[in-house]
Amino acid sequence: MFSVNINFLRLPGNYLFSTIAGKVNEYKQANPDKSLISLGIGDVTRPLPPAVISALHSAVDEMADASTFKGYAPDGGYAFLREAISKKDYAPKGVDISPDEIFVGDGAKSDSGNIQEIFSPNAKIAVTDPVYPVYVDSNAIAGRVGFFDEIEEKWDNLIYMPCTADNCFAPQLPGDKPDVIYLCFPNNPTGSTIPKSELQEWVDYANTIGALIIYDAAYEAYISSENVAHSIFECEGAKTCAIEIRSFSKNAGFTGTRLGFTVIPKELEYNGVKLRDLWARRQGTKFNGAPYIIQKAGEAVYSDQGQKEVRELVEYYMENARLIRETLDGMGYTVSGGIDAPYIWMKTPEGVDSWGFFDRLLTEANVVGTPGSGFGPSGEGYFRLTAFGTHENTKEALERIKRL
Ligand SMILES: Cc1ncc(COP(=O)(O)O)c(C=O)c1O
Repeated sequence: MFSVNINFLRLPGNYLFSTIAGKVNEYKQANPDKSLISLGIGDVTRPLPPAVISALHSAVDEMADASTFKGYAPDGGYAFLREAISKKDYAPKGVDISPDEIFVGDGAKSDSGNIQEIFSPNAKIAVTDPVYPVYVDSNAIAGRVGFFDEIEEKWDNLIYMPCTADNCFAPQLPGDKPDVIYLCFPNNPTGSTIPKSELQEWVDYANTIGALIIYDAAYEAYISSENVAHSIFECEGAKTCAIEIRSFSKNAGFTGTRLGFTVIPKELEYNGVKLRDLWARRQGTKFNGAPYIIQKAGEAVYSDQGQKEVRELVEYYMENARLIRETLDGMGYTVSGGIDAPYIWMKTPEGVDSWGFFDRLLTEANVVGTPGSGFGPSGEGYFRLTAFGTHENTKEALERIKRL
C-alpha cells in the first residue's frame, strides 16, 4: 500500500511566507478599505533592466524563426552564459572558475533546496540560526535533521549556530562536528556580512575537518564594504571545500523570470568522488535546463549596459535600506544590516515578541514585515524589513511606523 514521505508530516506548520500571506489575506478581507504596504517577502519591485528586456525580445524573435529556434538547452546551461559568468563574475575578483564548473539553473531556491540530494542520508548539517528556511526544510524532507521539538522550536539532529547581537550576527565555529555547513553572506534574514578574513577561517575549518560548505551568495551584488568577499572562492583553499550558489533575482530583478547558477569546482571531491559529477548527474536526471530566452536575458546582465543598469537597481534599493535603517535608528530602535544587504534586522520593542510585532505593524500601521522567529529560534525578538519596496512605499511605511 502507498505511504507518504512522513518527513513532510514532521515539518512544522506552513512555509513561513505562506503563513504570513494567510494572516495578511485574513486582515485584508476583514478590512477591505485599508491599504497595506509590504516590506515583508524579499521580492523586488523595479522592472527588469532595459538591456534585459531588449535581449528577451530578440530571443523571442529567434524562437519564432526555424533557423534560430532552440529546443532543449545544453546540460548545465548555454556556453555564452557560462562564459559570461566566468569572465564577469569571477575573473575580475582574481578567481579562476571555468565555464564547465558553472551549472545554470532556474534560481537559488531550487539549487539550495536540491543540492542536498548529493549528500549522504546521514550527513550532519549545520545552519546559522536564524536562517533562510529552504536549507533546513529541504534536509528535513530528506529525513536528515531528525524530529522537530515544538517546545524548543528546533530539529533534534541539526546543528544550530546562533547569530545574535552578542556575536554581531556572525556564526561561531560549531562545537559538534558537521559534515555540511550552510553559510549565506550577505545574510538573509539578518543583513549581516563577515570580513573575508573570517570567511577564510570557515574555509580552513571545513578543509581541516573534511566538511562541505554550501555558500549562498544570492545577495553578492549588494556588497559595498571593501573587506567582504563577493565569492567564497576568493578564499584560499575554498575550491576543495565549497559550493557557491548565486541568483539573478536580487541584482537584476529576475524573481519572476527565474535564473541562477551553482559553482562546483573540479577540485571538490570526497573519497575520490567529484561533487561536480554528482550534481551534473542529478541535474541531467531531473532538470531540462533554464529556457534559452531567459539565459539570453541573463547574458545581457553582463553587457556593459546591463552592468550599469544592475548597479542602478542595487543603488535604488540600497537608498531604501539607508532610509529604513536611519529612520528606525532615529526612532530609538536597535537596527542592524542594510549596509551590504537589502535587509534591515531590527530588535522588537521590549516585551513584544516577533509575531506580536508583526500583528501590531499589520493592524496598527498596515505595514507587513517578517517575524524573526520564523527564521529560527534565535530570530525571536527580531523583525526583518526589506529594502525592495518602491521609494514611495518605503517612505510611507516609515511614516506609518513613526505614528505607532
Ligand atoms: C538567501 C537566499 N537564497 C536564495 C534565494 C532564492 O533566490 P531565487 O529567486 O534565485 O530562487 C533567496 C530569496 O529570497 C534568498 O534569500
